[in-house]
Amino acid sequence: MKVSYSYLPRQFSDIDDLLKDIKKFVKTGDFTLGKPLEKFEKKFAKLMNSKYAIGVNSGTDAIKLSLNAFGVGVGDEVITAANTFVATVGAINEVGAKPVFVDCDDTFCMNVDLVERAITNKTKAIVPVHFTGYMTDMKQINKIAKKNNLVVIEDACQSILASQDGKIAGTWGTTGCFSLHPLKNLNVWSDGGVIITNDSKLNSKLRLLRNHGLKNRDEIQIMGFNSRLDTIQAVVGNWLIPQTKKIASQRIKNANYYDRHFSKIHQIRIPPRPKGMKIVYHLYVIFVENRDELLKYCHKKNIEAKIHYPIPLYQQEALKFLSYKKGTFPVTDYHSKNIITFPVDQHLSKDELDYVIKTVKEFYEKK
Ligand SMILES: Cc1ncc(COP(=O)(O)O)c(C=O)c1O
Repeated sequence: MKVSYSYLPRQFSDIDDLLKDIKKFVKTGDFTLGKPLEKFEKKFAKLMNSKYAIGVNSGTDAIKLSLNAFGVGVGDEVITAANTFVATVGAINEVGAKPVFVDCDDTFCMNVDLVERAITNKTKAIVPVHFTGYMTDMKQINKIAKKNNLVVIEDACQSILASQDGKIAGTWGTTGCFSLHPLKNLNVWSDGGVIITNDSKLNSKLRLLRNHGLKNRDEIQIMGFNSRLDTIQAVVGNWLIPQTKKIASQRIKNANYYDRHFSKIHQIRIPPRPKGMKIVYHLYVIFVENRDELLKYCHKKNIEAKIHYPIPLYQQEALKFLSYKKGTFPVTDYHSKNIITFPVDQHLSKDELDYVIKTVKEFYEKK
């Protein structure tokens, strides 16, 4: 049996209806900021319980445009999680600001107890990352932000429909940023992203920023970017968006199934599953002994397990300019050596989940 990490061939194996929609759309020629995009934005805003949703060309740009909208730039510092995907830091870097890392805890999100000591007189914003499908403790983040007059831009790229006390990821901050990358829980056939906000002025500014600052065809109000969500991708998004809740619940079911079985293996530690937090399992990550050997064993047995991530960002060549010393982020370091990610997507069969569980058990029994 092979358990693949990518579910895309399965997800798009039966797309006759979607192809019909695409054919109809192509004939309209409405390719740029077209009607299907407006429709997608309305549906996305509704799904998120948010007033506005703005389609952009990636999750990275969702963060970049949000930072830009608040005037965050050269000379400013932006606090974010040490264990995020490089895109969060790339967005901060692109606007010219300095990323300042805060270590994570075992929920894979920023340890909120460490945030205040990272604040300086140059700090302008906090970008909490709701990593792997968890949520950062947004009650605490918002408290700290309010006290220190900081903007909060949520990186919810991996956490669509996650929630804390029933309030959805992306609706706690001033903006919430989402990715529609092909391997995200809500995906399209290319890069794509969405920003949500309840602030009408911000909504207008972000719409200008994503489209060269153009007020209309002939008038440029502010300097902006070319960062529109392609309308043809919005057609794909419109087809998939009704499935988003089901996708989340199937991933949760799969994760609970793994948890039940893996918790019986003493070489495995299941991360905390905090009460009141809905985790949507973009990634299913656990702590394991003999990680590298287990990973090899899984690969040998055709299970595409992965590590998110084996080299912490602050130790990467490209980020040497931040001058962090080895050991500055001990929890992130620990995770990089002891975590493993198993496929958890909505298309996995019970047989496939059982095969993963059986293989892991077998590995430890042989030890
Ligand atoms: C945590 C995180 N932030 C930001 C991004 C950027 O999203 P995108 O790939 O759509 O630019 C991603 C996804 O790749 C991500 O996982």
